[in-house]
Amino acid sequence: MIKLIGIEQLRCGMYVHDVNCGWLDHDFIRNRFAVKDEASVRKVRATGVRQVYIDTARGLDVADAPTREEVQHAVTARLRRIAAEPATPRPVPLAEEIGRARTLHRSAHRIVRGVMHDVRLGRQIEMEQIEPLVGAIVDSIFRQPDALLPLARLKHHDDYTFLHSVSVCALMTSFARELKLPRDAIKEIAIGALLHDVGKATVADAVLNKPGKLTEAEFEHMKSHVVQSKIILQDTPGVSAIAIEVAAQHHERFDGTGYPNRLAGEAISVYGQMAAIVDVYDAITSNRVYHRAMPPTEALGKLLEWSRFHFNPQLAQAFVRAIGIYPSGSLVRLESGRLAVVLAQHADKLLLPSVRVIFHAVQGHYLPPQVLDLRYAPDRIVGHESFEKWNIDAARWLMP
Ligand SMILES: [Fe+2]
Repeated sequence: MIKLIGIEQLRCGMYVHDVNCGWLDHDFIRNRFAVKDEASVRKVRATGVRQVYIDTARGLDVADAPTREEVQHAVTARLRRIAAEPATPRPVPLAEEIGRARTLHRSAHRIVRGVMHDVRLGRQIEMEQIEPLVGAIVDSIFRQPDALLPLARLKHHDDYTFLHSVSVCALMTSFARELKLPRDAIKEIAIGALLHDVGKATVADAVLNKPGKLTEAEFEHMKSHVVQSKIILQDTPGVSAIAIEVAAQHHERFDGTGYPNRLAGEAISVYGQMAAIVDVYDAITSNRVYHRAMPPTEALGKLLEWSRFHFNPQLAQAFVRAIGIYPSGSLVRLESGRLAVVLAQHADKLLLPSVRVIFHAVQGHYLPPQVLDLRYAPDRIVGHESFEKWNIDAARWLMP
């Protein structure tokens, strides 16, 4: 049986099935291993992990620990409770926003690439370019977040850092909109989000683009990007304190296990607490060399699970409301056995979005695409699916 235990319960003789820290990009701890000595227990603890999954068929058991199924069941129940409260409505229909969002995504990609290039050459960030871009992103998200968010999900390996920045910016804006923060603060949050990883321009290429997980030394070097981001933004005229906090605190964790300053709880600004959630969500839902993208709904469940320690639980819930239980651009399975791409959220019915049916999972073939508003259709979502598993090209359906 696979069970979830607290790190303080981890002993020699147990078998770790999953170290449960999907956001840590390093390989000095294997994900699955038999615990043979106290040193390996200490090593896991040092990463800041608070709970791990053990396999009781391959090692010692903890009698009263919950099983993985019980944990998943509790998470699904929490997602459903979150869905019961309405989210912020979307004032503009999707069809009206989609063209604008596409153009915007292209120029955002180009501008972020240019910024990273400038920083590498020691040049100043051109805020005259960033400000109007971020203004346009905020406007688009306020009109209809389901246009830009699915585009921002798509990433190519080579361009990961740039596209991740654009995605974090769009997600943070949507999140801040859900929290009903003032519009001028949202603009600053979005600037910080777009530039949160500029410090990566100072990280050695061999480490930044390593086609695999990082060693301990490389991981330490990679971590320096946070302090570098802060320094670069502090040296850029016109960047606000809010934007700097987003960048400087996006790797801090609510329980004090993050970096660079091991800040805990309210010592992390609300902007930093938000950025931590969004940064992890975007990273684990993206394909990387060393991990496959996790379906968004599963990732939201993980965030809720981890929010017991690592994230502010209220904020994690608000984030789920901001993007939906089945986020737009994700693949779902319907009761009829058909697979569909989620198109748009309905703020008062987060479990019943509009979808585009594309594939018959039982019969194993594509279907003529058909849009369904699940509030009124005689079909319903029974679970999330992954594009990879079905060998369906997400880009074809997210940028048709
Ligand atoms: Fe980062």
